[in-house]
Amino acid sequence: MIETYFWWQSGSIYHIYPRSFMDSNGDGVGDLAGIIERLDYVDWLGVDAVWISPIFPSPMADFGYDVSDYTAIHPLFGSLHDFDRLVAAAHKRRLKIILDFVPNHTSQLHPWFVESRSSCANARRNWYIWCDPAPGGGPPNNWLSVFGGSAWEWDEATGQYYYHAYLKEQPDLNWRNPEVQEAMFDVMRFWLERGVAGFRVDALRQLIKDEQLRDNPPNPAYRPDQGPYHSLLPIYTTDRPEVLEIVAMMRRVIDSYAERVLIGELYLPIERLVAYYGSDGTGCHLPFNFHLILTPWDARRIAALIDAYEAALPAHGWPNWVLSNHDNPRIASRVGPAQARVAAMLLLTLRGTPTIYYGDEIGMHDVSIPPELAQDPWEKNVPGLGLGRDPERTPMQWDTGPNAGFTAGTPWLPLAAGYPTVNVATEREDPTSMLALYRRLIMLRRAEPALSVGSYRPAGVSGDVLAYLREHEGRRFLVALNLSHAPQQFAPGGLRLHGRAALSTFLDREGEHVSDSLVLRGDEGLIVALD
Ligand code: GLC
Repeated sequence: MIETYFWWQSGSIYHIYPRSFMDSNGDGVGDLAGIIERLDYVDWLGVDAVWISPIFPSPMADFGYDVSDYTAIHPLFGSLHDFDRLVAAAHKRRLKIILDFVPNHTSQLHPWFVESRSSCANARRNWYIWCDPAPGGGPPNNWLSVFGGSAWEWDEATGQYYYHAYLKEQPDLNWRNPEVQEAMFDVMRFWLERGVAGFRVDALRQLIKDEQLRDNPPNPAYRPDQGPYHSLLPIYTTDRPEVLEIVAMMRRVIDSYAERVLIGELYLPIERLVAYYGSDGTGCHLPFNFHLILTPWDARRIAALIDAYEAALPAHGWPNWVLSNHDNPRIASRVGPAQARVAAMLLLTLRGTPTIYYGDEIGMHDVSIPPELAQDPWEKNVPGLGLGRDPERTPMQWDTGPNAGFTAGTPWLPLAAGYPTVNVATEREDPTSMLALYRRLIMLRRAEPALSVGSYRPAGVSGDVLAYLREHEGRRFLVALNLSHAPQQFAPGGLRLHGRAALSTFLDREGEHVSDSLVLRGDEGLIVALD
């Protein structure tokens, strides 16, 4: 039987944070014309799809995750015409465009909310979550905002509170209201008609809140350094059973177009994450798996994570892996530059769709932002705990020129000081660079279906080496990753090791004959094509 795979199964996704990718007009903020200018680079890298964080009109209280018009483009990023040009330019290169869909909340300046807050009798009042004060006064219950403080905001004019899972400038829509559902499905159709390949759905776990508004219980494992939101367990505000009913409706919209993808942003433990695959055809194609971001960098812990995830997947569930994103410290900062190469090999040889965060492919690390230059509202609301996300959102480093070739103006966030060596132009010339490694990994993955769609079998952990086998139609690969800085010897149990090195993270062992046991240098990962 010949199995066929969808592009979103065999391909890889590249995540662009548009404010920081490429500025074409010198205002210091990236834009759509900038992305178009750099599309040849994205194509050269070898990825299949680009997911772009929000580009819609927004007062930018949360840098675009507060949308004031779902069917237009923020002038800062360009126009609908630029968007159409981007889709056409992408399609010419056989690249797909995935948009960010932000259904949980709008901006407080969205006309729907402006109407909703105008009076208790307004026809859109019930489009948001309004509530009377508690009997003794004050907020209706103890629910907290992810970004700090109560999740309820008092509205003096109408004498009620409204609910916001994030900033008070981001009121939550009432997804129990069928009118809201239809309006938002229309938004999806608007972009699907314009040729987008699907959506990454923001804050999906937040969509439905407990109808009885029960208090969230205290979190017994709370550590203050996690931020005040974690003092409670958000069991009545997130991952409610009815969220899956909404996902099924979104999936029906997606499935009325050919070959589109529904990706869910879901910070959930594995057993709950996999519930979002739904029963066959009713869930997300890819509930984003963030566990590589959350798991300590240790061979045993990572092996246990992969096993737990593979075991929990439903039969129809296609795996996926994410190494970094715009909300978390970059991989190079989490594990250091040497291990970031090993992490790249892990990401691009695991079974399932990989998502690459822009800049990780050149080894960008977090940039510490002085308080006076802080932009992220989370940092401003809850300062000093390192919760702010500016460090992982700094401008892409293109070349050795001023501002790394990102902008001719003043960049909205400072550039990393190391950009004269860590940049695309320099690394393209260096056959051993991080960029060279990423490209080789992506190309190898494209050429060898065993590495993308092939079966996965653990090959054990020995010392700090994590190893596994990938196999497809007779092609077999062993991947052995040394997660430490010290050399390690590795002999897989129960496997005749005989083959040739296909790729080392040092890019220097290709073709080397391998038999019986492997010696890995510190910080080395190796892909062996088995005979
Ligand atoms: C998601 C986004 C994050 C945003 C939040 C509120 O977690 O990834 O950047 O701040 O939702 O929309």
